[in-house]
Amino acid sequence: MKNKILVTGGAGYIGSHTCIALHQAGYEIVVYDNLSNSSREAINRVSHLIGAPIEFIKGDIRDAKALRQVFDAHQFFGVIHFAGLKAVGESVAKPLLYYNNNVSGTITLLEVMTEYDVKNLVFSSSATVYGDPETLPIDETAPRSCTNPYGQSKLTVEHILEDLAVSDTSWSLISLRYFNPVGAHPSGQIGEDPNDIPNNLMPYISQVAVGKLEKLSIFGNDYPTVDGTGVRDFIHVTDLAQGHVSALNYLDKQLSLNEGDTTQQNSVGFLPINLGTGKGTSVLELVSAFSEVSRQAIPYQFTGRRAGDIASCYASVSSAKDLLGWEAKLSITDMCQDTWRWQIANPNGYN
Ligand code: NAD
Ligand code: UFG
Repeated sequence: MKNKILVTGGAGYIGSHTCIALHQAGYEIVVYDNLSNSSREAINRVSHLIGAPIEFIKGDIRDAKALRQVFDAHQFFGVIHFAGLKAVGESVAKPLLYYNNNVSGTITLLEVMTEYDVKNLVFSSSATVYGDPETLPIDETAPRSCTNPYGQSKLTVEHILEDLAVSDTSWSLISLRYFNPVGAHPSGQIGEDPNDIPNNLMPYISQVAVGKLEKLSIFGNDYPTVDGTGVRDFIHVTDLAQGHVSALNYLDKQLSLNEGDTTQQNSVGFLPINLGTGKGTSVLELVSAFSEVSRQAIPYQFTGRRAGDIASCYASVSSAKDLLGWEAKLSITDMCQDTWRWQIANPNGYN
């Protein structure tokens, strides 16, 4: 089936939003997730929002036997591979867990895909692979380096995908490098549900605004930026979700060129693409936008820089535009509004 997609990690934050976008674009989806960082309730809500059941399989990407059962039961056009662990601090404390889950898990998935001759993959990479960028905006040819095991796991998978594309030209491997995904579905029904105290800025701000946390610590006000605080390229998760649909549509179009002509090779090999807005927003600008939207004071204090943080990071978005025909549409205000709607409707996340 040309429109059937396996979504690993589809119960998670970005995966759940992407399931909605895929369904709306006419793709049939099967979600495979071990629920290590997500809730079955997210899938129930996605199903409710699209008005159709979702085939959900609880399983681990490191479990080849379980994956084979899924590939036996379905004929996939490709895989969108979100499954992975993503907490930078935890990765420093538990590097083996991160390499095992993110790298070994991806190798197992790729091996099973090879067995079933499913050779189209969209991988969740990250702007973290650029390390501390030399120039801004960052384009896909920028040098890559990472300083923590999480980032290393993403970079290692990218290297594996590159080698795989060289070894066998029938693979199409799109590595989407996300900048800073934030926001929630406009319904307020699904969103980001951090387990403990959030590490990332937007969920932290929204928990301060709702009164769950007392005050935001801003990590550094002496960066060479507009106001001394860190600058990031925040991208609305529904725009990001749409980027995955555009990547699949692109693959479909490329693979259909010269269809039936066995002398032509249409696969795209390894293709890295940034998904961001191309605009930088500082921590203080985001705090101010959130405060305005929520009409809540957001108390903060400046503390020292967080180890490993960089001053500024924003994407060159021309590859996404030129190749995928995709552009982010939503503003910082939209991102804050949708985060706030999700936060007040679900003060305890999916619990
Ligand atoms: P998330 O934790 O909400 O979603 C990841 C999902 O994968 C979860 O549902 C989790 O249960 C599942 N999972 C983890 N390990 C698994 C395994 N071994 N087998 C099966 N399922 C497994 O995270 P997210 O924010 O939705 O991120 C999705 C992907 O995008 C991740 O790979 C992440 O590293 C990457 N990414 C995220 C961000 C971000 O800021 N959110 C930025 C760049 C890249
Ligand atoms: N920040 C604070 N206080 C907080 C949290 C964050 O001041 O409580 C600041 C950070 O110092 C940084 C900015 O807010 O300047 C953004 O921080 P986030 O933790 O939200 O995001 P990062 O850019 O550090 O990292 C995120 C993901 C990584 C991913 C990277 C690039 O957490 O996994 O984007 O995609 F690799």
